[in-house]
Amino acid sequence: MHALSSNHEIRRTFAIISHPDAGKTTLTEKLLYFGGAIRMAGQVKARGEKRRAKSDWMKIEQERGISVTSSVMTFEHHGLIFNLLDTPGHEDFSEDTYRTLTAVDSAIMVIDASKGIETQTRKLFEVCRLRDIPIITLINKCDREAKDPFELLDEIQEALALDVSPMVLPIGSGSNFHGCYNVTNGDYYTAKTRGEAFDTVVETSDINDSKLDAIVDPQLLEESREMIELAQIGYSDFDLESYREGHLSPVIFGSALKDFGPTALLDLIAEIAPMPRPSPTTARVVTPDEKKVSGFVFKVQANMNSNHRDRVAFMRVCSGHFKRGMKLRQVRTSKDVMVHSPIMFFAQDREIAQEAGPGDVIGIPNHGTIRVGDTFTEGENIQFTGLPAFAPEILRRVRLFDTSKVKQLRRALEDLAEEGLTQVFKPNIGSNWIIGLVGDLQLDVLKSRAKAEYGVEIDFEPLSYNLAVWVRCDDEAKLKSFISANAATVVHDREGSPVFLAKSQWDLDYTKERNPDITFMKTRELV
Ligand code: G4P
Repeated sequence: MHALSSNHEIRRTFAIISHPDAGKTTLTEKLLYFGGAIRMAGQVKARGEKRRAKSDWMKIEQERGISVTSSVMTFEHHGLIFNLLDTPGHEDFSEDTYRTLTAVDSAIMVIDASKGIETQTRKLFEVCRLRDIPIITLINKCDREAKDPFELLDEIQEALALDVSPMVLPIGSGSNFHGCYNVTNGDYYTAKTRGEAFDTVVETSDINDSKLDAIVDPQLLEESREMIELAQIGYSDFDLESYREGHLSPVIFGSALKDFGPTALLDLIAEIAPMPRPSPTTARVVTPDEKKVSGFVFKVQANMNSNHRDRVAFMRVCSGHFKRGMKLRQVRTSKDVMVHSPIMFFAQDREIAQEAGPGDVIGIPNHGTIRVGDTFTEGENIQFTGLPAFAPEILRRVRLFDTSKVKQLRRALEDLAEEGLTQVFKPNIGSNWIIGLVGDLQLDVLKSRAKAEYGVEIDFEPLSYNLAVWVRCDDEAKLKSFISANAATVVHDREGSPVFLAKSQWDLDYTKERNPDITFMKTRELV
């Protein structure tokens, strides 16, 4: 029997954030490979290939089936347990992606060296910032033509307001790429054969070590020495506290494809990334070393087989030592749930993973009874907080072709909203549902799934509103009067919380100005 300790100190639970094509799949595969979870590598690749077929629903369906098992990848390395949580495929970018970040303790940000910060990196980064999640940065694809290292470092500092501390810098780029130098320990990583994967480490005293003269082109070396010295002066020294607070990111320049980056990242995560943190609840803060099991559901995923409405709820364990067969209380319903067949994600040997500790994720199969945001405990009546619902970026009115299918439509929208695929809003005036999404591929997914799984044909009509924000006010009466004064533009989400629809940012700002007592929020905590 595998002795999977419940000790939270040995867990590192993290995710990779990036823009499509920056190299997340490649890096994931290499992390698993170098982390010893070899069996998973093929699956990640397969997913990468399928992902490229964009709007083909069958492919998405297949991909979702695969991603149930690869949503969490657990492996042991350096005496630690690494849990890599997949932020779901870029094209089906949804709230799921964001919420996964509430279940990690740190993140790796992958940036394409030729492109710098791109839109989705920035969005995901903002979510990390909401929770002060510490970030290690990999500037990837240094083996290709790349931007100047200083330009990239400055861009991160300026665009994300994040201090950087370069730890590994590139020597050359593109066809001139020779290797990567680690300023923290003097190791120089390069390839015996130019253009091949990195297979050689040269230990140096510092960047001026003559060992480098023997292997690097003199002009390139001279320029690189100057660049590395300037980088050490020009940017912050690494400071653990600052990193842990989410203010400073250590930066590694590398190439996931050429095997430079993955091992350095694994070492760095082991050394500096935080262990599971205490988790706030409505009543108190739960610390990971508590004896009793508690956790929250950050994602619900429908199973591959659309004939069975089976779902898997992904629960992050926040405290205690979970064992297969345990009975847990679903706080929202006060019902006890016997978790007799949890899905564990131990990559090396799935059979023997019977238990989980703080920072781990277990998949709980269910028939739609478990929701995103649910808290499970051994009986205590607490509710984990901090799981956000995000202001949607795309708003549409749902049009139903066969009006006798209103019930099915309601069911479909409620179920899919529960999965986090969409948000649904009920207008005060008129009866058509309004949906809100954070990525536009979700429109196709929603349409196809409503038809395939619920037998309802729907379409979407554009609205004249482009922004949806939650409104809150401590004074009930003031909130009520705001809602009645704006009856046509206030809708309600599934939980009954009021949401204001605005035509534009200008419209929103104008409304804000006229209603100083009302708080307008881009995110709403689920609990
Ligand atoms: P993603 O998951 O972030 O979308 O990116 P993915 O890893 O799929 O990588 C996107 C493309 O970039 C892939 O090429 C991949 O091989 C390439 N790539 C990733 N890391 C590096 C790197 O460090 N250096 C170089 N030169 N290329 C890199 P592709 O041709 O689109 O796909 P494939 O057929 O090679 O898989």
